[in-house]
Amino acid sequence: LADLELDSLRLEVAEGLLTVSVHRPEVLNALSPLVIAELREVFSLLRGRIGRSGDGAADDAPDWSIRGVILTGSGERSFVAGADISVMRDQSRDEAAAYAADAQELTAWIETLPVPVVAAVNGFALGGGCELAMACDYILASESASFGQPEVALGLIPGFGGCVRLQQYVGIAAARELILTGRRIDAQEARELGLALRVLPDAAALLDAARESLRASAAQSPTAVAAAKRTVRAAQALPTDRGLEIERQAFADRFGTPDMLEGTAAFVEKRRPSFPGA
Ligand code: HXC
Repeated sequence: LADLELDSLRLEVAEGLLTVSVHRPEVLNALSPLVIAELREVFSLLRGRIGRSGDGAADDAPDWSIRGVILTGSGERSFVAGADISVMRDQSRDEAAAYAADAQELTAWIETLPVPVVAAVNGFALGGGCELAMACDYILASESASFGQPEVALGLIPGFGGCVRLQQYVGIAAARELILTGRRIDAQEARELGLALRVLPDAAALLDAARESLRASAAQSPTAVAAAKRTVRAAQALPTDRGLEIERQAFADRFGTPDMLEGTAAFVEKRRPSFPGA
């Protein structure tokens, strides 16, 4: 990670947690194709290290040195104010299709990364910014955050997962209203709708809360956390019976793994587990 040369992202690793900040303050962290390309570089490198299957256990020797990722925007005002409109305006259909494909694939990489990814939304999360946040495992917001899918104001529609994921977060009626009106909502309303999980008073409290949440996962079995993330994602798109079948299988697959043997032994022996991560 330290070797990556990045123009529009800032990376910081502390205590096994990686913070990725989109950094284009002059345009409220709008997503140029370069930002997408750099996010792809970072997540592709993480996939190479921790695993691509959504389950570290299935990959060769997953490296668990990074146990969680925080995605945020640098500065006080914005998480990500959407795709870069001045770039989009000159794109051809083919370029737009390629841009959306790259961006959508990035969201799939975030969703299948075996460690949790938390969006820390510290300001505007509009259009592609809201969509990027929704690809994370959950969204924490500061009081000054705002969310919206304003694409219809540009003669566009969401193209980075908004038509798909927003309804998963807020239900179909609220998703329709937000997408069809382009209305912007504040952090409290986002929380009431289920888009933001918690609202923190300011940016510092927001990052603290994101770290605390990721540290809680990092104290658990990494392979169990990975399997749980994968199973929740798989079940999301399935009818109940099929989801239960996938869950049952994934549950059974935990048995006999070194982490499961350690976790259950530690409980019985009344000591803290020391998970091998396998
Ligand atoms: C390019 C942007 C930008 C964007 C802001 N800026 N958002 N540039 N693309 N998405 C630039 C402004 O042009 C301005 O540059 C500077 O950032 C500060 O913004 P202001 O508008 O002056 O700030 P303010 O008045 O506070 O308004 C903030 C705002 C507004 C409400 C966030 O900037 C806004 O509406 N931005 C566009 C939001 C949007 O529509 N996003 C969705 C894009 S479509 P200058 O040079 O004037 O200082 C999308 C599709 C995704 O995301 C599909 C992907 C496949």
